[in-house]
Amino acid sequence: MQSEFRMDLGSCPLNPVTVTEYMSEDHQAIDRLLAAAARAASAGDRADAEVKFAAYEERLKRHVRLEEELLFPLFAVRTGISGGPTSVLREEHEELRRVLAEAREAAASMPAFAEALTGLGRMVGEHCVREERVLFPMLDRQLLPNERAALVARLERE
Ligand SMILES: [Fe+2]
Repeated sequence: MQSEFRMDLGSCPLNPVTVTEYMSEDHQAIDRLLAAAARAASAGDRADAEVKFAAYEERLKRHVRLEEELLFPLFAVRTGISGGPTSVLREEHEELRRVLAEAREAAASMPAFAEALTGLGRMVGEHCVREERVLFPMLDRQLLPNERAALVARLERE
């Protein structure tokens, strides 16, 4: 029992102390919103699916904004790497915006919407894994503990 409890805490920190933890938790929250929208679409409930998709889209756009306006520029300053990983991730964000718009258009037909949401989830998942395993840990390592804490507090506020 106790080890299960520890596992829960490990996968979902109550108080994120690193950028990686904060952004990973946010990725999980975003995934849950998408799963809820996909469930409603699969059940054929268009009104519910659209409301849930709107919540998903809003949260995902906030997440992307935090990365593009705050985390990627800071990554470039601290690591001295200005192209490379962040330019690939920015291109993926562009692709993501395009697929989001396509999914919104697919909402006229529930089976097509459910399928579009599944594709979107796969794409976002692969993108997020790269951020969680590579980019955010690299950024965390460049920050002093007090800087990390201040940045996490700012992410929570924004
Ligand atoms: Fe991203």
